[in-house]
Amino acid sequence: MSQRRLFVTTALPYANGNFHIGHIMEYIQADIWVRFQRMQGHAVNFVGADDAHGAPIMIAAEKAGKTPQQFVADIAAGRKPYLDGFHISFDNWHSTDGPENHQLAQQIYLDLKKAGLIETKTIEQFFDPEKNMFLPDRYIKGTCPKCGTKDQYGDNCESCGAVYAPTDLINPYSALSGATPVLKSSDHFFFKLSDQRCVDFLEKWTQDGKLQPEVANKVKEWFSVRTNPDGTQSEGLGDWDISRDAPYFGIEIPDAPGKYFYVWLDAPVGYLASLKNWFDKGGPKAKHGDTRSFDEYMAAPDTEQYHFIGKDIVTFHTLFWPAMLHFSGRKTPDNVFVHGFLTVNNGEKMSKSRGTGLDPLKYLGLGMNPEWLRYYLAAKLNAKNEDIDFNADDFMARVNSDLVGKYINIASRAAGFIAKRSAGKLGEVSADGAALLEALRAAKETIEPLYESREYAKALRETMLLTDRVNAYVDQNKPWELAKQQGMDSRLQDVCTVCIEAFRLLTIYLKPVLPALAAQVEEFLKVKPLTFSDAASSLGNGHLIGDYKHLMQRVDIKQLEALFEPPAQAESAPIATDLIAEATVPGGEVIAPTITIDDFAKVDLRIAKIVNCEAVEGSTKLLRLTLDAGEGRMRNVFSGIASAYKPEDLVGKLTVLVANLAPRKMKFGISEGMVLAASHADEKAQPGIYVLEPLPGATPGMRIH
Ligand code: 2FM
Ligand code: ZN
Repeated sequence: MSQRRLFVTTALPYANGNFHIGHIMEYIQADIWVRFQRMQGHAVNFVGADDAHGAPIMIAAEKAGKTPQQFVADIAAGRKPYLDGFHISFDNWHSTDGPENHQLAQQIYLDLKKAGLIETKTIEQFFDPEKNMFLPDRYIKGTCPKCGTKDQYGDNCESCGAVYAPTDLINPYSALSGATPVLKSSDHFFFKLSDQRCVDFLEKWTQDGKLQPEVANKVKEWFSVRTNPDGTQSEGLGDWDISRDAPYFGIEIPDAPGKYFYVWLDAPVGYLASLKNWFDKGGPKAKHGDTRSFDEYMAAPDTEQYHFIGKDIVTFHTLFWPAMLHFSGRKTPDNVFVHGFLTVNNGEKMSKSRGTGLDPLKYLGLGMNPEWLRYYLAAKLNAKNEDIDFNADDFMARVNSDLVGKYINIASRAAGFIAKRSAGKLGEVSADGAALLEALRAAKETIEPLYESREYAKALRETMLLTDRVNAYVDQNKPWELAKQQGMDSRLQDVCTVCIEAFRLLTIYLKPVLPALAAQVEEFLKVKPLTFSDAASSLGNGHLIGDYKHLMQRVDIKQLEALFEPPAQAESAPIATDLIAEATVPGGEVIAPTITIDDFAKVDLRIAKIVNCEAVEGSTKLLRLTLDAGEGRMRNVFSGIASAYKPEDLVGKLTVLVANLAPRKMKFGISEGMVLAASHADEKAQPGIYVLEPLPGATPGMRIH
C-alpha cells in the first residue's frame, strides 16, 4: 500500500485545569491509532494544543490574580508529565492563543464573510453594570420561573429541570458581582448556517456514510424541525452566534473593534494552528522528509484529516467546523471519531472520603505502569461512542491474567533455556511449530483492519486467543521436561525458538498499545523497531537474542487501594508508618505535598457571618448555614458539623468560608461553599469538630491571605 499522509488530532482541552482521566483516555485512544498507522509506514502528524480562550478562563485568571496569558501558560507547563507519563506521542503541542491561530481564524472568518455567510444582528443580553461586561448564561443566577427555587443558573433549573432563557429568571443576579444585571443590546456576528448552501452541504457531509452510524443519526435530528424540552419549536439549523463583546479573552474580529470570536469559533482552528506551528518548525521535513509548506500540505488531495473527540462536542465538529472549512475554500476533515465517556468503578460518585475518581498523576506517582492502563482501556474500547467503565477488579484481572499471565509468560518460559542451554542462539523451527507460527502470521490480516477501524477490544481479543494457542503449545511440549531429558537439547532449542518467534509476532500486534514494552522486547530480541510488515519475516536459525529481564510486573492490589484512597492517606502510604513516630504525624495525617503560593491563591477564603443556622430534616450530620460574606446576598452552605454544635451556638458568629468552591447539589439543596473546621484524622481516637473563628476585628467579606 502506498504511504498515506495523516493529520490527526484530539480535542483541545480548556486551559483551566489539569488533565483528568477522560482526557487521558481520549489521548490513549488516538495514540494507539496513530502508532498503528506509523507501524504501517504511513506519515502521521499528530498534534494537540490548549484551548486557551473564553469567558471562564478569563474569569479564572482574574480570580487567580494573573493575566489570562500567564494563567494558560501555567496550565500548559503542567501538561508534559501526563503526556510523557502515558506515552502519548504527539508531534506537537501548541495553544489557540498562538499567533498562527489568530491569523488563521481571522482569515477563515474573512473568507466566510466573502462567501456571504456572515451577518450582524442586534441582540439583547444581560449585562453586569459592576463588572461592565455582558454575562454568559452560566454567570447569571436567579429564582427558577417554574418552581421558585432560588439560585438557579441562567439556562436551566437544577431542581425541577426546567429549561429557559436567562431573561426568564426571577430576581436575576450576576454570579460574578452579585449585581442585578440589566438588559443591553449589542451587535453580534452570526455564521449563517441556516443558509440553504450550508444546509445542503452539511446534510450531504454528515449523511454520506463516513460518520459512525449512531453519530450520523443524532446529527440528522438537528436538520429537522423539532420540539425542544421547553415546548418551543426549533426550525432545523439555526444561525450561530460567533462573536462576544469585550472584555473577552479571545481573538479580535477584523474591522470590529471590541468584538471577539466566541471561543468555539477559534478552538477547532487551533488544530490547524498547531499543525502550522509544527510545519514552521520544520517537523514534517525532519520526520518524514516532507518539504511542503503547511498550505501545500493542507491543500494536497492525499492529506487525510481525522479528529478524535468526545460525544459532548459532536455539533461543533460535524456541523460548524466542516462548514467553516468548506465555505472558506478549504478541505474538510475525512472523519470525526467520537468516543463515549469514561466512568470509574461503575460510575460511582466518589465521596470526599473515598477520593475523587482516578487521578492520572497519582496513578503514575504510585509507580503504576502506564501501559497497564493503555492495555486495559484498549481492551474495552471499540468504534462506537459507548461509555466505558474503569473497574478496579477487572483492571487487575485483565492485566495480571491476560497481559502478564498469558503474553509475558511466553517469553519468560522460553528465554532462560535459550540463554543457558543454547548460548542465546535460536534454532530450527520444527514442523508443528511452523504451523503454529503460520497461524500467528496469518492473524495479521484480521488484526490490522481491527486497529484501522478502532476496534481495539477485538484486536486484543484476537491477540489473546493467539497467546492461548502458544501457551497450549508450551504445555504440550513441556520445555522444562525436555531440559531434563538426555539428547533432547535440539528439540528444547526448537520449542523455545518457536516460543520466542511467537512472542515477537505477538509483540508486533500489541505494539500500538504497549510501545514501551515493545521497545524493551526489541532490545531483548536484538531487532530493529518492529512494524507490521515484520510479521512476514522471522528471526531465523542462529539469531542471537539478548538477556531476558523480567518485562512487566503484576498489578498489586495495594496499588489500587492506594489509588482510590483519599488524598491525605494516599500521600502518607509510601512512608512506612513504623519509621514515623506517631507524634510526628500532626493531627493524625502527614502534611500534604508542598504547593506554590499560586496554588494557594486559587482558594478564595473569606470571613463570613453565620446569620442563621438550622438543623436539616432527614440528616443527623448536616447543619444548614446562612452566611453573609459581604456580597450583598446570602449563601446557603451545608456543613457536616451537627455532631459538634447546636444551631443556636453558631448564629451570629464569624467563620471562614471557601468562597470560590463550585456550588454542589446535595440531597437537601445546593451548597454554595464550605466553612472551615478542624478535626483529627482518626475521629474515633480523638473525636471533635471545631469550626474556625477569626480573632476580633475581622468583618464579613475580608479575604484571608
Ligand atoms: O470541550 C472542550 O473541552 C473544548 N475545549 C474542546 C475543543 S476541541 C477543538 F475544537 F478545539
Ligand atoms: Zn425549577
